[in-house]
Amino acid sequence: MRWQRPGRLGTAARGRRGPTEEVVPTPEHFDVVIIGGGPAGYGAALYGASAGLSIAMVEKQKVGGTCLHVGCIPAKELLETAAVHRHVQGAGAFGIGVAGPVTVDFSVTQARKQQVIDQLHKGLTSLLKGRKVTVYDGVGRLGPDRTVSVAGGASGEVTVTGDAVILATGSVPRTIPGFEVDGSVVLTSDEVLALTELPRSAVVIGGGAIGCEFASMMSDLGTEVTILEALPKILPGCDDDATALVLRSFKKRKIDVRTGVAVTGHAPRADGSGTVVHFGDGESVDVDKVVVSVGRRPLTEGLGLEGTAVRVSERGFIEVDAACLTGEPGVYAIGDVIATPALAHVGFAEGIFAIRHLLGEDPVPVDYGKVPWCIYCHPEVAFAGHSEQSAKEAGLDIVVSKHRFMGNGRALIVGESDGMVKVIAEQGADGTAGRILGVHMVGPWVTEQLGQAYLAVNWEATVDEVSQFIQPHPTLSELFGESVLALTGRSLHG
Ligand code: FAD
Ligand code: NAI
Repeated sequence: MRWQRPGRLGTAARGRRGPTEEVVPTPEHFDVVIIGGGPAGYGAALYGASAGLSIAMVEKQKVGGTCLHVGCIPAKELLETAAVHRHVQGAGAFGIGVAGPVTVDFSVTQARKQQVIDQLHKGLTSLLKGRKVTVYDGVGRLGPDRTVSVAGGASGEVTVTGDAVILATGSVPRTIPGFEVDGSVVLTSDEVLALTELPRSAVVIGGGAIGCEFASMMSDLGTEVTILEALPKILPGCDDDATALVLRSFKKRKIDVRTGVAVTGHAPRADGSGTVVHFGDGESVDVDKVVVSVGRRPLTEGLGLEGTAVRVSERGFIEVDAACLTGEPGVYAIGDVIATPALAHVGFAEGIFAIRHLLGEDPVPVDYGKVPWCIYCHPEVAFAGHSEQSAKEAGLDIVVSKHRFMGNGRALIVGESDGMVKVIAEQGADGTAGRILGVHMVGPWVTEQLGQAYLAVNWEATVDEVSQFIQPHPTLSELFGESVLALTGRSLHG
């Protein structure tokens, strides 16, 4: 069956909007059927419904996916607890007295985290209901001709079809041989987020996004942390200067960071209270918990796909073209299950893209090299676009401007002056700075400051253009303004 994009007035319009239209969807037929209710899936559902499409979404656990239940939201909530702890500990510098030692009741922390999740889950559920998205509870399997069967959940056995199907089944933690997850000593992020108390000591295997966020959080709340990273540096995707600043802060806080080391196994203590982790050249460390954060793998188990032309790569990702279309006509795949940056907001963007594409619009594909990245460890890291290293590797002529938060009034006021803003711009033949290629930030609330840098990079704005805009004073964001202004060859404070 040859599939054609329905065009601007899609089947929703044909089925629902006009008495003259020929196709009336039966209850089992939808304009779009989505498998997976994480950010990618529910993003596509909400956006598609707002465009007038009839949508079914199949979710085997809870709508919200990894991000809401065991990812972004709980992890950031625990990091915020760590921030509060740091602030209270540092309150003396502001003349604020705290009677007695600063304590942590992790059960209260966990209850607050759950409250945030529950509130967002409730909000999302009513949003979906309000937009008339039909949510099926069960495992969705894709068969030929865009037929999706649902089974194993509260919705019972149901079969639905769609003019289009979107696969958004996400990802699960990757594990490594020799470190089988037992939920008590060897944990992944899923189990760390459910701990009822924090361990006295922990090894974090993998110094990527999860590893650094968890190491930072646990260390701030009193755990002795060792990070074991196989590559020569932690946060391998970040600009070298950004990584160096995070490393310096981690070391100051006594997080033991070991890079370029391989873990070779572990020997549990006889009483099951911890384990000795072996790594590198005969080294070992005795800890209460091991956190395995070596990446995530796409989830396609149980998804069916037999009799379809959907292909799964050797690494487990669903293969798609630039339009997120699989080999099966009318079947898209988005989010962590495809080999694009595994980020909630990339999932949202791909969901919007897929809906616009199936509506016959002409959306611009996501520019994956320029998506925003925010890592919420302390100090925070945020960036978009080229790092200095990747720009050089790409053979680009560049100029770089770096400014420290040490010279920023607001940073001194809030008492967090560790960090920098680094702007990488194209260098013209006359030596002047042109297009902004990348912006990398480390420091206080940089995850909230990245917005304008992201726009500059993605709008392909030049240094001259951006330097004309005003930054409010006194703000942390002035440092971005200063860093861009300095690239004009003149400056204020920088
Ligand atoms: P998921 O969120 O994994 O959702 C997939 C959904 O599909 C799940 O609900 C699953 O139950 C369901 N499903 C799977 N198979 C089937 C099936 N056959 N039938 C029915 N349902 C099915 N990203 C950020 O952008 N910012 C962050 O700060 C951030 N922090 C993170 C912290 C941690 C600890 C972790 C683990 C991840 C974090 N991420 C963060 C990554 C982010 O969570 C993911 O990129 C995002 O959740 C991916 O969305 P998704 O919809 O593709 O997949
Ligand atoms: P990751 O890919 O970010 O980092 C994994 C790290 O583990 C890498 O540095 C890798 O070199 C290292 N590693 C791999 N095998 C190893 C081994 N055997 N021994 C030691 N080190 C090893 O993966 P992570 O941290 O698990 O996160 C998964 C994804 O979730 C991220 O890539 C990101 O897309 C998303 N995420 C995003 C966050 C954010 O945006 N703030 C926060 C957390 C996760």
